[in-house]
Amino acid sequence: MDRAAALALLNEHCPDQRLARHCLAAEAVLMALARRLGQDPGLWGLAGLLHDLDYDQTAGDMASHGRLTRRMLEPLGVPAEILKAIEAHNAENLGLTRDTPLDIALTCGETITGLVMATAMVYPDKKLASVKPGSVVKRMKEKAFAASVNRGHILLCQDLGIPLNDFAALAVSAMQEISDELGL
Ligand SMILES: [Fe+2]
Repeated sequence: MDRAAALALLNEHCPDQRLARHCLAAEAVLMALARRLGQDPGLWGLAGLLHDLDYDQTAGDMASHGRLTRRMLEPLGVPAEILKAIEAHNAENLGLTRDTPLDIALTCGETITGLVMATAMVYPDKKLASVKPGSVVKRMKEKAFAASVNRGHILLCQDLGIPLNDFAALAVSAMQEISDELGL
């Protein structure tokens, strides 16, 4: 599956702009992670773009979030490692483990996008351009700030050999590059 086909699927299944932007942000962060780790940016980017495809359909039913996306993507020839990573980003609810670098990267990469976006929203201009990686790191310790963002998942970056400071810098810069698409 190429990016255009993945985008078409995203538009079809995620008409909500907020969700679509979250997926685009995840794609950007996953591509940056792949470049840093010598992995395939195209493959990792697809995982980011497609990981929440069933989010609307599963509507909070966390026991099927990710499973349904696998069922949607399997017949379309999406690589098995992407399907596994998509399920593993919801590992806790599906009784799975995160085994591969992509499993870990998708989980920490998609999660940090939420913290970066929330950090941008508290600036007067609400712009990603204003966000400093250090501010994102500082927000990690403020549990009440963007409370639904799982800090433990973000810290999985360390299992990829990437310190939190570097990870925050990588994510902020990847998202700043597509700030127009993200509307921030
Ligand atoms: Fe997500």
